[in-house]
Amino acid sequence: MIHGAHVLLRPVEERDHVLIHAWQNDPEVWWLMDYEGPFSMQDIVESERRARAEGHPYVIEVDGTPIGRIGLNAFRRRDRICSLNVLIGERSAWEQGYGTDAVSVLLDEAFDRYDLHRVELWSTADNERAIHVYEKCGFVVDGRLPERSWKGGAWVDRIVMSVTREGFATSPTGDDLRRRGH
Ligand SMILES: CC(C)(COP(=O)(O)OP(=O)(O)OC[C@H]1O[C@@H](n2cnc3c(N)ncnc32)[C@H](O)[C@@H]1OP(=O)(O)O)[C@@H](O)C(=O)NCCC(=O)NCCS
Repeated sequence: MIHGAHVLLRPVEERDHVLIHAWQNDPEVWWLMDYEGPFSMQDIVESERRARAEGHPYVIEVDGTPIGRIGLNAFRRRDRICSLNVLIGERSAWEQGYGTDAVSVLLDEAFDRYDLHRVELWSTADNERAIHVYEKCGFVVDGRLPERSWKGGAWVDRIVMSVTREGFATSPTGDDLRRRGH
């Protein structure tokens, strides 16, 4: 269990698959996550099995209610790097600070527990809210992949971002965590 200011991150369990299936099939989430197609329950079972085997997937809870999913995956030990993915599936929980809280406590865990040097991710360039959250947590844009995704009848760029231990520590959210004694 990982405690943020408002969120709790707990390992994904089998009973969460139904919710994750609903979240990943929500058209707006689907759009923002740049998923390619709808997910069957079997797709979710298999992707969660892979996520558990290869990384650390968590459900994001607020006051005991699951609102989303976050995880670390694609660990490359030599380079001390992994990838981070996040989705808040309950739309009513958007824009209340939970995403920032969840990303920052998971980064803290990544750097402290797994002794990483860098955490990376990508987003489509049109996901301005997500990019803003990542920047608050110290992520910087490493590159822009032009016309990388075909979305809704138009090409959209992808942004590759990463944050180092130092970049997180000196970011507004890293600084806030330290002040709270994390
Ligand atoms: C992206 C996501 C994780 C962010 O979590 P959240 O809890 O909604 O976000 P927070 O409330 O922590 O922070 C939102 C911030 O973005 C800002 N914001 C909102 N819309 C914005 C926009 N269009 N452009 C720039 N900033 C924006 C808010 O003002 C807030 O910043 P502030 O705290 O500095 O004022 C969540 O909205 C989500 O899961 N969305 C659907 C899936 C998704 O997009 N996942 C990421 C894929 S890369």
